Amino acid sequence: MVQITIEGKKEQSFECSPDDTILRAALRAGMGFPYACNVGSCGNCRFQLLEGEVEHARKDAPAWGERDLKRNRYLGCQAHPKDDCRIKLRFDESYAPEFAPARTEMTLKEKSAITHDITEFFFELKDSNPFLPGQYALLGLPGVEGGRAYSMSNITNDGSQWHFQIKRVPQGIATTCLFDQVKIGDTLELDGPYGTAFLREDAPRDILCLAGGSGLSPMISITRAAAISEKLKGRQIDFVFGGRATRDVCGREFLAELPGFGERIHFHAAISNPGPEDTDWEGYTGFIHDVAYEIFGDSIRDKEIYFAGPPPMAQAVQKLLFELKVPPEQIHFDEFY
Ligand SMILES: Cc1cc2nc3c(=O)[nH]c(=O)nc-3n(C[C@H](O)[C@H](O)[C@H](O)COP(=O)(O)OP(=O)(O)OC[C@H]3O[C@@H](n4cnc5c(N)ncnc54)[C@H](O)[C@@H]3O)c2cc1C
Ligand code: FES
Repeated sequence: MVQITIEGKKEQSFECSPDDTILRAALRAGMGFPYACNVGSCGNCRFQLLEGEVEHARKDAPAWGERDLKRNRYLGCQAHPKDDCRIKLRFDESYAPEFAPARTEMTLKEKSAITHDITEFFFELKDSNPFLPGQYALLGLPGVEGGRAYSMSNITNDGSQWHFQIKRVPQGIATTCLFDQVKIGDTLELDGPYGTAFLREDAPRDILCLAGGSGLSPMISITRAAAISEKLKGRQIDFVFGGRATRDVCGREFLAELPGFGERIHFHAAISNPGPEDTDWEGYTGFIHDVAYEIFGDSIRDKEIYFAGPPPMAQAVQKLLFELKVPPEQIHFDEFY
């Protein structure tokens, strides 16, 4: 173990094992280290190294470059300490985890196809750990460098079952391994939970969930939890799913199992690229942010908004919410880099 010290008015420190990253060790110690993606893409976890040496796991991390290296800046989610380090960054208590992330193993118990390219994977953990609805975990896949982030689709109960709805990416390194090589009974490494886009049960507003393609999983988890939350009793929950074509549309089947479906829980679907096979499509057509505005108009401003999906979708939704002047504290999202 090495010691990481944060320089500031009030000096704080935590221990980090050399095979851990500085961000994850800080979160395991309950500290509010800012972050989002955990895979080197967002840049939220950038810090300055004042003393000591680190090894940067992903040299090609999209959020890290030559300028950072010159200024001794590293990404907390990629930096493995080689010895004691002194670093500079501003902690933010809102990132302090409710459930500390932990590393364990999990066994694949079952899998079930949802669409032509989305499958739900049902895992059982060796060491139970709870998570909040909407959070994600890092999965270690055999032969795949670096953990990949996947959001849980279930709600935890005792923390022993973690389910994931995952979209196969054509030629994707991790998803090809998961879909084609990992078999029922196989064991994978798991690190989690992570993420701050979880359900806010104290928010006094109706809920809007926007799921773009692979963003299905955390939105299903949030809706499942909101449907049975005592604090959210009577709140309207609208779920909008956006896919490219009819064959991509899913999610309704999970919501239909929930108490209040059709009364206070509503499912809407949109396709963005209708082709010759979509002539029978009777739902909305267009990008998810445009369709959300078509359905709810300016009343979006009065909702607690959760969204997840690929970067172009997440950026378009953010732009819409900015233009509508939705207060940032009502917005919770993950970009699926
Ligand atoms: C917070 C978060 C939650 C997500 N939740 C889901 C989900 O619930 N369902 C879902 O289907 N997808 C989810 N994703 C996307 C998922 O993590 C993968 O990006 C996706 O499955 C493609 O992985 P791939 O390796 O198959 O594709 P590839 O095209 O091979 O790689 C895709 C991604 O992996 C990254 N990458 C490459 N090398 C490394 C490395 N060494 N370490 C870490 N990352 C690397 C790349 O930056 C790229 O973004 C989520 C992403 C994030 C950030
Ligand atoms: S780059 Fe480290 S959390 Fe996103």
